[in-house]
Amino acid sequence: MAASSRFASLGLLLFAAHFAVFLASAGAAAGSSLSSTFYDALCPRAHDIVRHVIQDARVADPRIPASLNRLHFHDCFVNGCDGSILLDDELPAIQSEKHVPANKNSARGFPVVDAIKSALEKACPGIVSCADILALAAEISVELAGGPRWRVLLGRRDGTTTNIQSANNLPNFFDPLNVLQQKFRNVNLDDTDLVALQGAHTFGKVQCQFTRQNCTGGQARGALENLDRVTPKVFDNEYYANLLRGRAQLPSDQVMLSDPAAAATTAPIVHRFAGNQRDFFQNFAVSMVKMGNISPLTGSAGEIRKNCRRVNRRGY
Ligand code: HEM
Repeated sequence: MAASSRFASLGLLLFAAHFAVFLASAGAAAGSSLSSTFYDALCPRAHDIVRHVIQDARVADPRIPASLNRLHFHDCFVNGCDGSILLDDELPAIQSEKHVPANKNSARGFPVVDAIKSALEKACPGIVSCADILALAAEISVELAGGPRWRVLLGRRDGTTTNIQSANNLPNFFDPLNVLQQKFRNVNLDDTDLVALQGAHTFGKVQCQFTRQNCTGGQARGALENLDRVTPKVFDNEYYANLLRGRAQLPSDQVMLSDPAAAATTAPIVHRFAGNQRDFFQNFAVSMVKMGNISPLTGSAGEIRKNCRRVNRRGY
């Protein structure tokens, strides 16, 4: 199997770390019917195809891995991981989630998802869901930036509807800690998941209008800054060191340390991950698998969209 040969070449140390992650992933998968071997028979090159398109895309746009990683998060927190964030407006039936405040002029990478989908449709038509493309892209993006690898669980099908109310309730940069914790708990993610997953802010960009400094340098509201000011392009644990220095970009990052309730909940986890990158990587991988398990459509539910931007016409 292609995935095993990739793992075999990594050496003993890495193998041990990944094995731990794999065990944990398998545990997380116990309650779902997703499987890391789902496409092995029908689309064995799926992982490689997604990887190649992302590798090409990031030559022109180095931010693409971060943007794709965030799409999986915004997909899974709204109606579960069903590819709903990818749907364009088809009014009156479908109102796109792309227009809600958390996504508008912010969520990006959609043309790259289209390119991945076309490449997959050429290789194995009608097999790989758009929701699974986001899950694979999220992992590959982290791996390409130097972060951990994990076995992505697959077999999600695509939804045929959006959920604007839920998209309007995505975690917000000005949410206090207790609200962030509640929004994560609502989808079965605990404090460790919250701290680990926000570690994705180790790469990618933020508009200064959302930062704690709030464009006080006189920049335009949409001016971009690095989320991780120290090692912006590398997926590492420097994000947590930034928090310890009081230098997180988003209020929702810093609250995990500064909120009065943090001392007994999230702050010890921030300290742990700041001091041990391997611990962070293992937990990040496990939490990504947990997030990817949020209410997937499986079996005969939903569909395999032909075009990630629209639901299939009846009869397809
Ligand atoms: C805990 C709640 C979270 C909040 C409030 C939050 C908020 C934000 C905000 C405001 C931005 C900047 C958007 C912009 O300037 O247009 C951002 C970027 C980003 N977020 Fe989060 N986020 C959260 C959790 C997560 C999670 C769980 C992940 C992934 C697992 C993630 C991955 C990213 C990435 C990679 C970027 C950079 C995207 C890019 O450069 O295009 N975030 N986030």
